[in-house]
Amino acid sequence: MGKKIELYDKFFSEMESYNILMNWHEGQLSDCDKVLDVGAGIGRLSEKLLKKEKEVVAIDTNVYGLKLLRERMVDRKDRLQTMAMDASMLSFADDSFDGINAMLVLPFIKNPVSFLNEVKRVLKVNGKIVSSGLSRDSWLVMNGWFKELDGCGRFEGVEKNWDNIFYKLNMEIKNHVHNWCNAHDIRKLFEEAGLKVEYIGDNPLYRGNGYCVTARK
Ligand SMILES: C[S@@+](CC[C@H](N)C(=O)[O-])C[C@H]1O[C@@H](n2cnc3c(N)ncnc32)[C@H](O)[C@@H]1O
Repeated sequence: MGKKIELYDKFFSEMESYNILMNWHEGQLSDCDKVLDVGAGIGRLSEKLLKKEKEVVAIDTNVYGLKLLRERMVDRKDRLQTMAMDASMLSFADDSFDGINAMLVLPFIKNPVSFLNEVKRVLKVNGKIVSSGLSRDSWLVMNGWFKELDGCGRFEGVEKNWDNIFYKLNMEIKNHVHNWCNAHDIRKLFEEAGLKVEYIGDNPLYRGNGYCVTARK
């Protein structure tokens, strides 16, 4: 994603439905002291967890987002580690984390089976994975996002051009998603990795066209 991550952040950071999703992830991880944030991006969720005094290891293949996270969290650097790492090959010891966060990441991982096997390996016994993603029809809800963003003041000059932005965003997602899953596929993937699914529900960001899932080792 490179520096596009800043545009991504500008787009989502103050969007109500994105914040509802982020709060859901944060709440689900409330009983976890040491958390691995996979595909942390610019690290908005890592930031929230750090402010709750958790120990956070944030990984992503995009080092630029991690750099921005470190710069924002300089006063909490003793509890934050950032590492460039592919989610399907985690370089951590077995049983390392109480919780793993993977917000809006799973669809973009080329090999979700390897990723979930790694999740099972590095989670402590009874540790929790909290994940969310989009399904094939998720683009149908994007028009709703633009209504939410219209008049917010962060996109002056482009607000008359939502259709063009909508098209580009849709193409960007299509070019980068490697696995489209619905709730049924997700349950199967998690269970086949030996994870115990505790909850599967709608993703508030995608309003009926995505999923939120929690599972335990
Ligand atoms: C849609 S963004 C989500 C960012 C953040 N978690 C959020 O919810 O705003 C997907 C992120 O996953 C990262 N990513 C994609 N494939 C990855 C992989 N195989 N390993 C680690 N990170 C990956 C991307 O670089 C990007 O930052």
